[in-house]
Amino acid sequence: MKFFIDTANLKDIQEAVELGVLDGVTTNPSLMAKEGIRGTDAVMSHYKKICEIVDGDVSAEVIATDYEGIIREGEALAELHPNIVVKVPMIREGVKAIKYFSEKGIKTNCTLIFTAGQALLAAKAGATYVSPFVGRLDDIGADGLQLIQQIVDIFSNYGYPTQVLAASVRHVPHLIQCAELGADVVTCPLSVITGLLNHPLTDKGLATFLADHAKVNG
Ligand code: E4P
Repeated sequence: MKFFIDTANLKDIQEAVELGVLDGVTTNPSLMAKEGIRGTDAVMSHYKKICEIVDGDVSAEVIATDYEGIIREGEALAELHPNIVVKVPMIREGVKAIKYFSEKGIKTNCTLIFTAGQALLAAKAGATYVSPFVGRLDDIGADGLQLIQQIVDIFSNYGYPTQVLAASVRHVPHLIQCAELGADVVTCPLSVITGLLNHPLTDKGLATFLADHAKVNG
């Protein structure tokens, strides 16, 4: 399973790279705004910086919602760096644009997926990734992980090459369950990735080992 980090924060991205387990990055307009990145030039240069840090796919989201606008923005983003994946919302014009990009060999991530039908549509249009939002479904009392299961099963039934990118993954149990269900990728904040390190018995065991070693060796 690939690990993507869901942030536009360069320090967090660098820390995940240094851990040696990062396969890519996802961003969205809210995450860019959180870092105070304003204006097209600043946004483009920030994506370039991310691509220079990470050796893997970097999802950069279009803002346009009309077909021509999505194509224009997507092509400009794709030209920035070979690692860029154009992130397109699950709307009618977005599906048409995904078809166009896939025929041009431009990688896409169809975002804001909340049903299996939406995922199927994006896969048929040739999306490289679909992003079902696990946490946001849980937020409204639905079952985000059940959606991951459905999409993984459907793609496997028909051999779709589209990868299931479990998004809005908020905590360690989410990530582990996505792995059990066979999601190709998870994207989550740095805290979820580093959360995988933790167990109190690991800390306790290490403290005992070091104390016993010190007793004999000083
Ligand atoms: C997906 O690519 C989104 O950026 C993201 O995972 C949304 O997560 P959130 O629901 O925690 O904001």
